[in-house]
Amino acid sequence: MKAVILVGGEGTRLRPLTVDTPKPMLPLVNVPFIEYVIRLLKKHGVDEVILSAGYLPTAFDDHLGNGSDLGVKIVYVTEEKPLGTGGAVKNVAAHLDDTFIVFNGDILTDLNITQLVEYHRAKKAVATLTLTSVDDPTAYGLVPIDAAGNVQEFLEKPSWDEVTTDLINAGTYVLEPSILDLIPSGENHSFERGVFPLLVERKQPIVGFPSSAYWLDIGTPSKYLQAHRDILDGQLASDFSGSEIKRNVWAGEGTKVAESAVVFGPCVMGRNCVVEADAMVFGHTTLADDCVIGRGARLEGCVLASGVHIGEGAVVRNSVIAAGCVIGNKVHVDEEAIIGVNSVIDEDNLLKKGIRIWPDTKMAKNTIRF
Ligand code: GDD
Ligand code: MG
Repeated sequence: MKAVILVGGEGTRLRPLTVDTPKPMLPLVNVPFIEYVIRLLKKHGVDEVILSAGYLPTAFDDHLGNGSDLGVKIVYVTEEKPLGTGGAVKNVAAHLDDTFIVFNGDILTDLNITQLVEYHRAKKAVATLTLTSVDDPTAYGLVPIDAAGNVQEFLEKPSWDEVTTDLINAGTYVLEPSILDLIPSGENHSFERGVFPLLVERKQPIVGFPSSAYWLDIGTPSKYLQAHRDILDGQLASDFSGSEIKRNVWAGEGTKVAESAVVFGPCVMGRNCVVEADAMVFGHTTLADDCVIGRGARLEGCVLASGVHIGEGAVVRNSVIAAGCVIGNKVHVDEEAIIGVNSVIDEDNLLKKGIRIWPDTKMAKNTIRF
């Protein structure tokens, strides 16, 4: 079976992490997110993946190549301008001749796709939409269904007064090729605002598949951090690389933890990291390769990409620090701060409240303290 993964979005809500890396290539516990998606598809019998890219398209090919490492064939199709979710699939129509899967490229899930496809076939649907329950449906596509599972309405980003259910579009569909006839060629067209409402209007068989599988859209900083916490907590089956140096603490080759330092699980450290004397790494922390945690520094619930240096006595909590950053002594980074690649933050700065620091920023001593 073939699957189209939509990876053309700019990931604006995750800037500055997505300035030079497309959202699906961002690491999740040191593994590019897209690998989780492809592994899941492969596990459920998908043998060919069509990556519909647009924004920073070469990043995918550079890492995944022809897909042989993951056991699938990968075909790359790049849009010159964004075609929208539906337009992107129309654009790869030449590769689709049978029932196929569409996957939003920012969904972390362990959905049972085999069951989803069986449901689609049993219902003789032209479109089957996976649905999940969320507390705030207004950020998603609202999908009320009747007792037989038929989609009654598709409302993208509803306002609260339109919310009649907590079931939303989970961004994984099984579709029949006939759907492609409803999408104009070469134009921007949306499944959510175009194709799905049209199928409902025309009373075509479009059904919902409510699922209680793990599900998270990683598209915002807080969800990106949550995805790390959930993976580290074992909510999704994952193999961490390195060796388990103590319960729930994983360290790659060459990583050294000073005797007077403490590392609490769950925590994953890459290769050649150094945790210096008296440093404390609390749970739900991920370090990529070559990170240095200075003497007496404290880390908790944070994500450090490769080559990050944390100064002495610095505190980093619930935040993301991109590759190559140097965080000075006694700097505090907290409350979902995002620091872009290769930034240098000198001593005595306090970066909190969702602050976003652009890549290559050089911040002098004592610049921000609120
Ligand atoms: N190729 C291509 N071209 N891909 C695109 C384009 C495009 O023009 N626009 C968006 N995408 C990709 C994004 O990269 C992402 O993987 C996926 O399509 C969905 O786009 P988002 O921008 O993340 O949409 P959303 O999260 O606001 O809403 C969508 O996902 C929700 C579930 O997380 C909708 O499908 C909602 O209905 C749904 O509830
Ligand atoms: Mg999304």
